Amino acid sequence: MSKRSTFKPQTVMVIGAQWGDEGKGKIIDYLTSTVDYVVRFQGGNNAGHTVVVDGVVHKLHLIPSGVLYPKTRIVLGNGMVIDPEVLLSEMANFETKGFKLNLLISERAHVIFPFHIMMDGMIDEYKGTLGAGTTRRGIGPAYADKAERFGIRMIDLLDQRIFKEKFDQLFDLKKNTFRCLYGQRMNLNKNEIFRTYLNYGKKLRLYIGDVSLEVNRAIAAGKKILFEGAQGTMLDNDHGAYPHTTSSNTVAGAVCTGVGVGPNRIGDIIGVVKAYLSRVGAGPIPTEAKGQLGTYLRERGQEYGTTTGRPRRCGWVDLVQLRYACRINGLSSLAITKIDVLGGLKSIPVAVKYRYKTTTLTELPADLNVVRHCKPIYKTLPGWKNLTDSDFTNIIKKGYTALPPRMRDYMKFIADQTATPISLVSVGAERRATIRVQ
Ligand code: IMP
Ligand code: MG
Repeated sequence: MSKRSTFKPQTVMVIGAQWGDEGKGKIIDYLTSTVDYVVRFQGGNNAGHTVVVDGVVHKLHLIPSGVLYPKTRIVLGNGMVIDPEVLLSEMANFETKGFKLNLLISERAHVIFPFHIMMDGMIDEYKGTLGAGTTRRGIGPAYADKAERFGIRMIDLLDQRIFKEKFDQLFDLKKNTFRCLYGQRMNLNKNEIFRTYLNYGKKLRLYIGDVSLEVNRAIAAGKKILFEGAQGTMLDNDHGAYPHTTSSNTVAGAVCTGVGVGPNRIGDIIGVVKAYLSRVGAGPIPTEAKGQLGTYLRERGQEYGTTTGRPRRCGWVDLVQLRYACRINGLSSLAITKIDVLGGLKSIPVAVKYRYKTTTLTELPADLNVVRHCKPIYKTLPGWKNLTDSDFTNIIKKGYTALPPRMRDYMKFIADQTATPISLVSVGAERRATIRVQ
């Protein structure tokens, strides 16, 4: 490896370097034992993290992965959109399991309403091949209202008069939009939703506060902070595969606006990279493996969406895309996940460039027509034998150098080609199946 990474900085950020579902939840859970705060800064319950501890599977959508450590303060930043019904049920679920919730919710985070969820599906269907295949959780329409300045924020739920003033206007606007633009009746009861959301506000009141103030004070007091990214770089609404993206900024820079911290407060930025590639939703993926190999990766890696259960589209690591992710996020190191899944393959293709008509591309194209028609140029690397659970148990005890040489060569190739060192390797779903690269 070209450089060492030690997690010394006071703040660490974990970002998806591909299309989401890289295994961020697991890496965040692994790192949480070393921090005081885990802070989310964008997205909502479109996210789905799976964390396995001692055989127990925890699925997370809104609540940061730090919830599994009782002393850790978990924070939902202003850059998020929050469905209070989902949040309350996730909170209840963790409380039933015996976890204490040390939770802070930004007063400035925006609220998702039932009409947002209804619109999400309608809009995506209207878009056809230009759609992203959304998770239909109302994320995009809620962010759109935020940008239009119709949005309702968490703090508004705590002030009945302000909430009524804003909700009356928003509800009527949506009703008209449904009728005039989509020719549909919005069959929702205004008073009932109003009362329900006021009640959500009452239940959440104790948790709602000024996130920027608390996080900055914590940094000043020397506390360690982990910023938890959701989705992945290619789903970023500016830098990703637009328009097949999500509606928030998912890249490292988004933490500043999504929490209210200055850029000079950011320490290490770890990009999580699945040892192959997966994407749930629609849009072109140059290195998608169709047919038998795609199915093999999906079944072997159990690649089904945590949020929607949809089968994920699988393929090979794309270095054009990864180099781009390193640049856009300023990644300090990579955490490689699910490398165990590739064991037993004779050879593993990795895309190093694209070909478009007669030209060779080394940088990610923005032109949708080029994206649709470019073809990856692969370098094929030799595979390694399949390892059993007990092989891995021994390897984890001994550390990185005990991994098969060809597996290390595969990771070294990725590190060299992206000029970014590898800091962590995950070889299984369990918390303990993680190896530091020292
Ligand atoms: P939305 O965020 O629900 O609007 O979905 C937009 C696109 O992002 C779709 O292609 C989704 O499948 C994808 N997406 C959203 N959240 C995630 C995630 O957490 N993991 C993977 N894909 C996601
Ligand atoms: Mg996920």
